[in-house]
Amino acid sequence: YNLTVLISGNGSNLQALIDACASSALSNTRITHVMSNRKAAYGLERAAKASIPTTYHNLLSYKKKHPQTEEGTAAARTEYDADLAKLILALDPQPDVIVCAGWMHILTPEFLNPVANAGIKVINLHPALPGEFSGAGAIERAWEAGRKEGLKRTGVMIHEVIAEVDAGDAIVTQEVELKEGETLDELEERIHKVEHGLIVEGTRRTLEKIKK
Ligand code: GRF
Repeated sequence: YNLTVLISGNGSNLQALIDACASSALSNTRITHVMSNRKAAYGLERAAKASIPTTYHNLLSYKKKHPQTEEGTAAARTEYDADLAKLILALDPQPDVIVCAGWMHILTPEFLNPVANAGIKVINLHPALPGEFSGAGAIERAWEAGRKEGLKRTGVMIHEVIAEVDAGDAIVTQEVELKEGETLDELEERIHKVEHGLIVEGTRRTLEKIKK
């Protein structure tokens, strides 16, 4: 099986997938391309070290071609997403699954439709449970809710990507208890460890369903 992984940052989840492909955790599976919307994403280094081809898909160059208005920005994002789909559909081999691993860019139908039409699944890691803390900063918001509202647990999910943010059907979820007096860094540390296991399990289950 072939995976394309989308990243924006450190790439610790990408690293978990790279390691899983090298071990038996994800058998007969390889990451054939890594795409980042951030030039400085350390995940690009991780991919290069693993000899995985990378692409920096730069939104700024699209924004420069349009007026700095709401309509201009929307047009830039539409072109950006359409070209991202074209880049992925032009890969040889095409991926079976696109894994969003710490990818911080909302994907619109201009991306999702052509990719779905090509029979490619898109899955996303989100460090919260279904229906909770969607969007950025989910871990911090859960930590705050633990301190201020007595929330007992948060969690991590891998879900199918649809046009609504962090709202597609959950593929696998894991609860993470909130600990009294724990710092945000300590919670993030525990959550990232859960992410690294779940992103492999979520990818495995998605590939299982594709079984050629
Ligand atoms: C995840 O919590 C993701 O939701 C957020 O950053 C973490 C992924 O980090 N954007 P990494 O780039 O996989 O290390």
